[in-house]
Amino acid sequence: MIFTNLLYQLEAETGILTITINRPDKLNALNAATIEEIRAAAQQALEDPAVRGIILTGSGEKSFVAGADIAELTKLDEVSARRAAERGQEAFALLEKSSKPVIAAVNGFALGGGCELAMACHMRVAAENARFGQPEVNLGLIPGYGGTQRLTQLIGKGKAIELLLTADMVKADEALRLGLVNHVVPQAELLSFCKQLLTRILTKAPLALGLCLDCVNAYYDKDRHGYQTEAESFGRCFSSEDFREGTSAFLEKRPAVFSGK
Ligand code: COA
Repeated sequence: MIFTNLLYQLEAETGILTITINRPDKLNALNAATIEEIRAAAQQALEDPAVRGIILTGSGEKSFVAGADIAELTKLDEVSARRAAERGQEAFALLEKSSKPVIAAVNGFALGGGCELAMACHMRVAAENARFGQPEVNLGLIPGYGGTQRLTQLIGKGKAIELLLTADMVKADEALRLGLVNHVVPQAELLSFCKQLLTRILTKAPLALGLCLDCVNAYYDKDRHGYQTEAESFGRCFSSEDFREGTSAFLEKRPAVFSGK
């Protein structure tokens, strides 16, 4: 697929895909077309065996994503807005449910839909200039792309309610203290840090990585039983080539070479 609102760059040697939301003149605000492209890019990445891990970032040095496109929101009514929220939720859920690790490299403002997009990723690394917030109540709105749910999961009910109700922006160091981000690094080192983190993760058994992500997701899914999912997944590892390779490599005192099978 040809993308017009994002850059889709796959590094062949490492299997690291970088998706860059690319509307810098609008601080990478998410219009409906961009949401659609995020969904399509995520789907394409999940289906492509050459993609092993994903970094999601924003174009420029000022903004990751400054929210849903406010100009476009003014054209929606009750029915179309609900549909837009569902489409956004579906797109972001693809990232969250990905069996390949997804890291948000937050290079500036992550507001509204931007904070929601970052929270749908498995991990978040913030540049020192990053700012997080859910300012929707300033506009007579609430988050629609999973923000009320994932913010509560990540930082707990009390703080989530405070951020949602005050629309306050938090700086990167405060986001780190709250558990909203995993690391804070200088802007110039953001992408290289994310690549190093992902590269380290990608030396591990791919099947096990995907199962870990799925088990953690099961905790937050009311229709699934987390401990049962974990036990089943643990069992599944034992019929994998990766398990045989990982244990043999340990006993033979050599690095493991995993096939992902
Ligand atoms: N939707 C649409 N356009 C947006 C946008 C959004 N969420 N956020 C920024 N833009 C546009 C601005 O309209 C402006 O466009 P213009 O140059 O054509 O006028 C451009 O991006 C630059 O933004 P600007 O506001 O001039 O930058 P700033 O540095 O003064 O302020 C922010 C940066 C992020 C504080 C400010 O843009 C902002 O508050 N954005 C909205 C955040 C928000 O409420 N998000 C939730 C939406 S539900």
